[in-house]
Amino acid sequence: MSKKTFYVSTPIYYPSGKLHIGHAYTTTLADILKRYKKEMGYETFFLTGSDEHGQKIEQKAEESKVSPQEYVDEMVLGFKELWRLLDISNDKFIRTTDSYHVETVKKIFTEIYKKGFIYPSIYEGKYCKSCEEFLTKEQMNEKGEHLVCLKEATNFKEETYMLKVSNFVNYLNEIFETNFLEPENRKKEMLNNFVNNNLEDLSITRISFTWGIPINENPKHIVYVWLDALTNYITALGYMQKDDNLFKKFWSKDTEIVQLVGKEITRFHSIYWPIILKTLDLRMPDKLLSHGWILSNNNKMSKSIGNVVDPIELIKKYSSDALRFYIANDLPMNRDGSFTEELFVESFNTNLANNFGNLISRVSQMIIKYFDGLLKATDIENHALVKEGIKTIESYQKLMNQYNISEATSKIIKLGQECNKFIEDSKPWVLAKENKIDELNNVLTILQRNILIISYLLKPILVKKYSQMIEQMGVDEEQVTFDNLLKNKIKYNKITNKLVLFERIK
Ligand code: MSP
Repeated sequence: MSKKTFYVSTPIYYPSGKLHIGHAYTTTLADILKRYKKEMGYETFFLTGSDEHGQKIEQKAEESKVSPQEYVDEMVLGFKELWRLLDISNDKFIRTTDSYHVETVKKIFTEIYKKGFIYPSIYEGKYCKSCEEFLTKEQMNEKGEHLVCLKEATNFKEETYMLKVSNFVNYLNEIFETNFLEPENRKKEMLNNFVNNNLEDLSITRISFTWGIPINENPKHIVYVWLDALTNYITALGYMQKDDNLFKKFWSKDTEIVQLVGKEITRFHSIYWPIILKTLDLRMPDKLLSHGWILSNNNKMSKSIGNVVDPIELIKKYSSDALRFYIANDLPMNRDGSFTEELFVESFNTNLANNFGNLISRVSQMIIKYFDGLLKATDIENHALVKEGIKTIESYQKLMNQYNISEATSKIIKLGQECNKFIEDSKPWVLAKENKIDELNNVLTILQRNILIISYLLKPILVKKYSQMIEQMGVDEEQVTFDNLLKNKIKYNKITNKLVLFERIK
């Protein structure tokens, strides 16, 4: 029996600066997956949040002359506002400064400590403050800079508690045999560069700053950001808390658990996170989707490089649907993508305005003009384009079940193109002139049915425009489900509206 509960999460973002389109990217993809699963009848839970502790945040607050708590409180308002503007439907927003999280992280530390997987030590090595990450040789260039952010790594020597990661090399090799991490090339990178390359124990506490969670065992130590951060995925559900119903439901073996992360934090999620879960005797997520970066001028868009695109400006100028569509269609997860406003506008005009927009407005206008808004019932089920529509639903579902949003979207685009071509080939305006009413009725019925399919498949993406698209076909929203579309059980009402759905951007 297939699983019917679905839990999707994004990384929790550092409030050390405003969020940019790279962060909007991950969160939108997670949102689209959640909305799709909902249409498939799943009970869903979608988590995002903020990762608020650490040295960098402490420094930022100092620069702004406010307390760390005041600093993060202010920044998080901006996060929440972005998610509202982008129609993100998260069920919970976790802040690592939330008291339930703080208390649970202490308990988790104690639990792992008691089991003997944590020991006191001294850690010596290289550290990237900007990314809050201990670095191996492979992660730096010859100048000693971290390859991800090009900031100089600092020397580091500190008393610390270590997690016995090296005990788990066999376990990691076992789990890497499964397909929990995608894409495939990232899996090889993790195995070759880390798992099977003298995997070292991980430092999990710090003593040289205070903005973090102190451990009960020795309160001068605060939990180093990653143990604090990774555990958010379970503390948010109520793990080790009085009310743990969500945890019982969404971290159970029957739930499909999918986590999205960018490639530079894949190491933490594919190596340390499974180990933490193992020490707690908890299950692994089913899938870790590691996506590429959005580049601008060939560099990772990032606050520290200063080449960021502000998603709020894009939403205000072009709408959240436009940005969501661009993310879904034009930025595949398995490679780095580029963002420029020209590419964005071009994709909008080609796909939303010329393909879908045009199709919907032409067909609805013809139904109004030639049939007063209501077509006559007719059997078109054997027509090739109707079969194509059904096939599109099936291949879309197959791809979405593999979390391949961009390929799934391209199937919808293809159906739209075929419908537009069908209009050119069948020339309804000629049929009307020649009074071939039955043929005209068939052509428009085929198109109307396919437009409904197209609109429904776009529903997880085009959150705002979806209702209008459906209304434009004369259909009540609650009727549109996968089941009704596949079984052709939709009742059409008279179309009266003439809406312009996607106006070309000049
Ligand atoms: N706080 C940690 C994550 C802890 S999760 C338990 C962190 N935060 S972050 O704010 O720096 O980044 C969060 C996510 O945003 C990462 O997955 C990262 O890959 C993603 N992105 C940041 N810049 C990006 C691009 N330019 N392009 C795509 N995603 C990018 O890491």
